[in-house]
Amino acid sequence: MKHVIDSTDLTVEEIDGILKLAQDIIDDKEAYSEACKGKKLATLFFEPSTRTRLSFESAMMELGGNVLGFSSADSSSATKGESVGDTTRVVSCYADIIAMRHPKEGAPMRASMVSGVPIINAGDGGHNHPTQTLTDLLTILREKGRLDNFTIGLCGDLKFGRTVHSLIKALSRYENIKFILIAPKELRVPEYIISEVLEAKNIPYEEVESMEEVMSELDVLYMTRVQKERFFNEADYVRLKDTYILDGKKLKNAKSDLAILHPLPRVNEISVEIDDDPRACYFRQVMNGKFVRMALMLTLLKANGAKLNLSADKLAKIPE
Ligand code: CP
Repeated sequence: MKHVIDSTDLTVEEIDGILKLAQDIIDDKEAYSEACKGKKLATLFFEPSTRTRLSFESAMMELGGNVLGFSSADSSSATKGESVGDTTRVVSCYADIIAMRHPKEGAPMRASMVSGVPIINAGDGGHNHPTQTLTDLLTILREKGRLDNFTIGLCGDLKFGRTVHSLIKALSRYENIKFILIAPKELRVPEYIISEVLEAKNIPYEEVESMEEVMSELDVLYMTRVQKERFFNEADYVRLKDTYILDGKKLKNAKSDLAILHPLPRVNEISVEIDDDPRACYFRQVMNGKFVRMALMLTLLKANGAKLNLSADKLAKIPE
């Protein structure tokens, strides 16, 4: 049984295949509109979400399948004390594939150990968010035309931001990427990412506190929100939440083809005055998220032996 729990559960070849398939879906949506006829996706969200849950559900509907699930732990039997393992065993009797978000790091991994159907991690605590990473990679590829040879600045809450951790792991496998990590000292990237990913692979990186001083070097700027829900202390959140606010003035020295990404939701960290700048990619990024989740679900369903309702030439486009 193939699951996606961490962004490195997929090889670079598999990721490239999924991104290529997503692009084919974008170019030829009609051909995929019945691909998952008779299939069901369960979305088990123990933590709030707008984009991830709704894009998964929309993705399955656009593939001709159906969806079921819950959007908060309060509306599930978790409130009666049911374990993640038991919930997963039960739901895998009802659905062909499961997307799970959970505040506890490792919960989707636990689910994958007992599930009879593929599990996709839709975000676990401050740990990982692999489908956001696929979304980010597809966005960089579509905006820049490549996934290698660029400098990326990651800015904001790099400590608790699971999208940042997943993206660094994924991009570290492509050629000639330089990381500039822009964060106050309290919100720096966790030490294990520095030592086990960047230093272990000899990947160039810098840690800085000022966005302005590095802006002119960046090809991609990945903004993130300060993750209020992961703070133990309200006063620390209030002190750090507005450390970075990207506005027109801060973009003065930026490259004309800079790509500005944000996994969203945004709070204050990008001024709305940037939204109409052609370099602002974050709403296009949202759309890419739906297509890449369609591609991922097709890939996992095929890998796990499901019969898909597709022509032979489209079936051949799904990565093995
Ligand atoms: N990017 C993201 O994970 O958004 P949601 O929390 O709304 O799903």
